[in-house]
Amino acid sequence: MCGIVGYIGPRETAKVLIDGLKRLEYRGYDSAGIAVFHRGKIEIRRKEGKLTKLEELIGGETFDGNVGIGHTRWATHGRPSDENAHPHKAGKVAVVHNGIIENYLSLKEILKSKGHVFTSETDTEIISHLIDEFVQEGYSSLEAVKIALEKIKGSYALGILFEGDEECLIAARKESPLVIGLGKGEYFIASDVPPILPYTRDFIFMEDGEVALLSSKEVKVFDAKGDEVSKEPKRVNWSPLMAEKGGYKHFMLKEIFEQPRAVIDTIRGRLSEEKGDAVLEDVDFDPTFLKKIRRIFLIACGTSYHAALVGKFLIEEFCRIPVEADIGSEFRYRDPIIGENDLLVTISQSGETADTLAALREAKRKGAKALAICNVVESSLAREADHVIYTHAGPEIGVASTKTFATQLVILFLLALRIGRELGLLSKEEGKVLIEELVRVPHLMEEMLKASNQVAKIARKYLHARDFLYLGRGINYPIALEGALKLKEISYVHAEGYPAGEMKHGPIALIDREMPIVVLATKNDVYEKVISNIEEVKAREGKVIALASPSDREVAKKVDDVIFIPETLPSLTPILLTIPLQLLAYYMADFKGTDVDQPRNLAKSVTVE
Ligand code: AGP
Repeated sequence: MCGIVGYIGPRETAKVLIDGLKRLEYRGYDSAGIAVFHRGKIEIRRKEGKLTKLEELIGGETFDGNVGIGHTRWATHGRPSDENAHPHKAGKVAVVHNGIIENYLSLKEILKSKGHVFTSETDTEIISHLIDEFVQEGYSSLEAVKIALEKIKGSYALGILFEGDEECLIAARKESPLVIGLGKGEYFIASDVPPILPYTRDFIFMEDGEVALLSSKEVKVFDAKGDEVSKEPKRVNWSPLMAEKGGYKHFMLKEIFEQPRAVIDTIRGRLSEEKGDAVLEDVDFDPTFLKKIRRIFLIACGTSYHAALVGKFLIEEFCRIPVEADIGSEFRYRDPIIGENDLLVTISQSGETADTLAALREAKRKGAKALAICNVVESSLAREADHVIYTHAGPEIGVASTKTFATQLVILFLLALRIGRELGLLSKEEGKVLIEELVRVPHLMEEMLKASNQVAKIARKYLHARDFLYLGRGINYPIALEGALKLKEISYVHAEGYPAGEMKHGPIALIDREMPIVVLATKNDVYEKVISNIEEVKAREGKVIALASPSDREVAKKVDDVIFIPETLPSLTPILLTIPLQLLAYYMADFKGTDVDQPRNLAKSVTVE
């Protein structure tokens, strides 16, 4: 949560910072601020609300300095307000921070007793005071930062400026992401890659405990012990255009429509049609380990957890290995029974979700092997896991996950295929059939996207409904959960996902003629049972929107609205079913006029517990 940027170089600093914050706003949007030099002094402009408020505040003002820091906030300590907005400045030190300082209250008391006066309710403000305290004691900027960080407990990505030194930008990282962009005669820091992509594709990914000293001439990185370390720059092959709206009204809509391309990129080079197998070269699994796997744990949060639930069906079907799908925040607090011959698979778009990361650490501590499925290259999960498989969805800016979900499902399908083939539970011929069908999926997704106008009409028809139910069974049940989550998070309409068979155990009491029920009714081995569920809803005058197999006239006759889903294997149908549900949520939200890409109270990556 929260996004930070920093710049040192010849460009117009405030503009670089504001443009960077625009690409980070998905991380939080309760307030925004920048600190830049002007005539040798640090000038701070900060404002509660979205970035546009800060832009209005700055207006035509210009600053002559060549170094600056910026912040977009998702409030943790202290309500959203101008005073709590970052940067925070004490004496000569200005700071932007993403993370949480756990011992800020005790440090604040100590600093207060030394005469420091605080003007915000944030945990961050103590960092600027603490560093300033050591600067006043005569330490160099770098030494002052290092000593201050030794006293701080918690997580942080920091950008720090020092009045009187326009050749110095300090960055520090612990448990919150931070990258350094390496330009020609200019350097950048940011919480994520997209803000820096317009300037360079060469990055240093900072590790926990590292502190970096940036000047206009060089970048020096120091490890937790204070020793200078040489860091290998990495080239990121995302293009800046990938992080633009490209003519769409919202990032979310663009990202929904990008899904066929994202799936193609994710399967490219990972299929051996000849061997009927997946090629996951990035996972150099020892085959003897695969043969010994006792259980697989799929751990994630939110939408990624719904992918985990689908993954459970895929792996159990293809590999006959018992799978537990669990939520990151629950897993580690139940003293999980996990050990040497278990495989933990964490699934995460950002790779920074605190609960998922904590689950990975717990599992590794107990001796399990850890695999991460991530979208963001070099993210914390990717680096801490034993193996990583990247989804190649490209940057996802909309807060609601869409294309990354589709690509997570694809990777789980490939993983299940790979393990199933290795264990001899899937024959080469069976593998070939699965691959042939997977290759058709992007084309079928394109077909599905053509239903967008029809989905928009359905959204308009049910716009005033206050509650929705989503029903699905088997491998489609997680998609009912995902459909309901999408609707809740962007349109603020209450929605519940249920296994269709559970309806009669409670939710049926909610059904009346006002209640739309989305039923995932494609043909599979529980199809007949889902039809019975539709009958039960209709008998109570509920409104049914069905997602059905092509030309399923029987369903079409019974329901109020039907969207036909192209025919594919039941194991791949969830990818197609997701699209109309994303579109339904999108159009409901857009017609209601909510902030689709930045829904209230949310942040794209949840880096706090
Ligand atoms: C999905 O639309 C949400 N924004 C959210 O549930 C998200 O999936 C969750 O926070 C997990 O994020 P991650 O995939 O980056 O770990």
